[in-house]
Amino acid sequence: MSLQHCKIIDLPKIEDPRGNLTFIEGGQHVPFEIKRVYYLYDVPGGSHRGGHAHKDLHQLLIAMSGSFDITLDDGRTKFKYHLNRSYYGLYIPPMIWREIDNFSSGSVCMVLASERYSEDDYYRDYAQFNQAVSGK
Ligand code: TYD
Repeated sequence: MSLQHCKIIDLPKIEDPRGNLTFIEGGQHVPFEIKRVYYLYDVPGGSHRGGHAHKDLHQLLIAMSGSFDITLDDGRTKFKYHLNRSYYGLYIPPMIWREIDNFSSGSVCMVLASERYSEDDYYRDYAQFNQAVSGK
C-alpha cells in the first residue's frame, strides 16, 4: 500500500443545538469489517505512540477529543495529518508506518480495527518494515 491509499473519511454529523452527534455503521462508513475498538487516553504531554506498521490490519483513527499528529510513511514518502475533530477519521491500510505525537492535553484517539489484536501482525522495527515494502 502507498500513502495514496490513506485518506480522511468524513463521518455523518447530526448538528443539534443540544450537542452534535456522529455515528459509524459497520459496512457503511468504514472500508473494512470492524472487529476491534481501542483508544489512547491520559496521554502525557510529549508522548509518542505508534512507531510500527501492520501487515494485514486496516484501521480508522479518530480524534474523539483534543488533537494529535499522525505521520504516515509508506517507505518512500512521509505525510503528516493533524486530527482534531470527531466527525472524521484517518483510514490507514496495511503496510504503512505510523508515528503519533503532539497530543493535546485530554486528547483521546479512538481506533477502529479490522482484526483482533495480534502481535504477529506488527512490524516494530523500521528497517524490517522498509525491507518488506521495498521488496528486498
Ligand atoms: P501498541 O499497538 O504498541 O500501542 P501504540 O501503537 O498505541 O503505541 O500497543 C501497546 C501495548 O498494548 C502492547 O503491549 C500491546 C497491547 N495491546 C493489546 O493488548 N491489545 C490491543 O488491541 C492493542 C492495540 C494493544
